[in-house]
Amino acid sequence: MGQEVTLREVRLTDLDRFFEFERDPISSHRAAFTAEDPNDRGAFDRHWQRILADPSVRNRTVLYQGEVVGNVALFELLGLPSVAYWIDRPWWARGIASRALRLFLTEVSRRPIYARVVHDNLASQHVLSNCGFVQVGTDRGFAHARGAEVEEQIWRLDEVARPDLGPGPQPGDA
Ligand SMILES: CC(C)(COP(=O)(O)OP(=O)(O)OC[C@H]1O[C@@H](n2cnc3c(N)ncnc32)[C@H](O)[C@@H]1OP(=O)(O)O)[C@@H](O)C(=O)NCCC(=O)NCCS
Repeated sequence: MGQEVTLREVRLTDLDRFFEFERDPISSHRAAFTAEDPNDRGAFDRHWQRILADPSVRNRTVLYQGEVVGNVALFELLGLPSVAYWIDRPWWARGIASRALRLFLTEVSRRPIYARVVHDNLASQHVLSNCGFVQVGTDRGFAHARGAEVEEQIWRLDEVARPDLGPGPQPGDA
């Protein structure tokens, strides 16, 4: 069975899946910076309506073996171009996020690019490191999924990503 990570434009039919991804309590705890209420479908739909219409936001659906497993985005955060990503929990720890972000970074020419990650989201920190980001600072912010202010790390990518390198399942892997 081939293993392949690909990206494509977000379709409205993906949104039901994304909503379920974000409702998973373990995933949202890990992400920390989430919607105020992940069960509020109205707020979720308004958010997606807004970002899909915003030319400064670039969203992509992540597919693994043709199945929708996550999403990745570029958007302005505090005036800086920033990335975020989410992979559905059954698919964690296969290198999918690292591969998806690496692919996404080949589509996006802006540099530097930033990311913010809660201090204890080690998996996301590995993903950023795998894609060439380095930690450049810290901040504190309110995390809805933790119900508290938490320490977050600020990461930055200065280099152009090289899609041919790095971890993650490759087409044709067993
Ligand atoms: C963070 C997230 C995107 C990672 O997705 P993934 O597909 O499992 O990521 P990958 O498999 O590409 O890489 C995970 C890396 O973290 C490491 N890792 C996983 N769990 C870990 C843990 N608990 N402690 C330390 N490292 C961990 C893996 O070993 C791997 O590192 P490596 O490539 O250096 O071996 C996924 O957990 C997720 O979607 N979480 C919810 C949303 C979120 O947190 N988004 C990011 C917000 S900043």
